[in-house]
Amino acid sequence: MPSHTRAPKLMSVDFRRLVTQPDLNSHGTLHGGILMKWSDECAGMHARKSTGFLCVTRYIDKINFVSTARIGTILRITSVIESIGNSSLTFRITVRNDLTNNVIATIDRLVFVCVDGTHKPINHGLKLDDD
Ligand SMILES: CC(C)(COP(=O)(O)OP(=O)(O)OC[C@H]1O[C@@H](n2cnc3c(N)ncnc32)[C@H](O)[C@@H]1OP(=O)(O)O)[C@@H](O)C(=O)NCCC(=O)NCCS
Repeated sequence: MPSHTRAPKLMSVDFRRLVTQPDLNSHGTLHGGILMKWSDECAGMHARKSTGFLCVTRYIDKINFVSTARIGTILRITSVIESIGNSSLTFRITVRNDLTNNVIATIDRLVFVCVDGTHKPINHGLKLDDD
């Protein structure tokens, strides 16, 4: 356990992506796999910004594709820290149309683990204020 623990600076981070031609499926709407990749990347960047460590995806639970996104849609991908462990951080993702605020997808839990140079979990030293 590190001698100093600190609260994360940013509990919530917004990222934006523009839907373009290569992101579409054969029906002409946003491909679900692309949306999952972007969501994973956003939570991963949030984990990296919060801890300063290399963080890898350990577990993803419950993705809900609520509505479609089309070419030209600006997506707002909001990553929120839900809980904090010793080496892990758990995020919730909500993807919205940035102009209309309509929800496009949610992912209930993405668990990231901080790893050292030998790819072993390490304590990130973060904790929530009320823990
Ligand atoms: C990440 C990795 C090094 C962790 O190793 P591990 O043996 O699972 O480590 P541990 O059992 O000590 O668990 C590490 C943390 O993950 C959490 N965890 C493990 N399995 C979990 C699960 N199924 N759901 C939620 N959390 C889980 C543990 O609770 C622990 O959290 P804590 O330290 O905050 O208490 C290893 O699983 C790995 O390399 N996985 C592949 C990662 C990857 O390639 N991702 C895709 C590309 S980024």
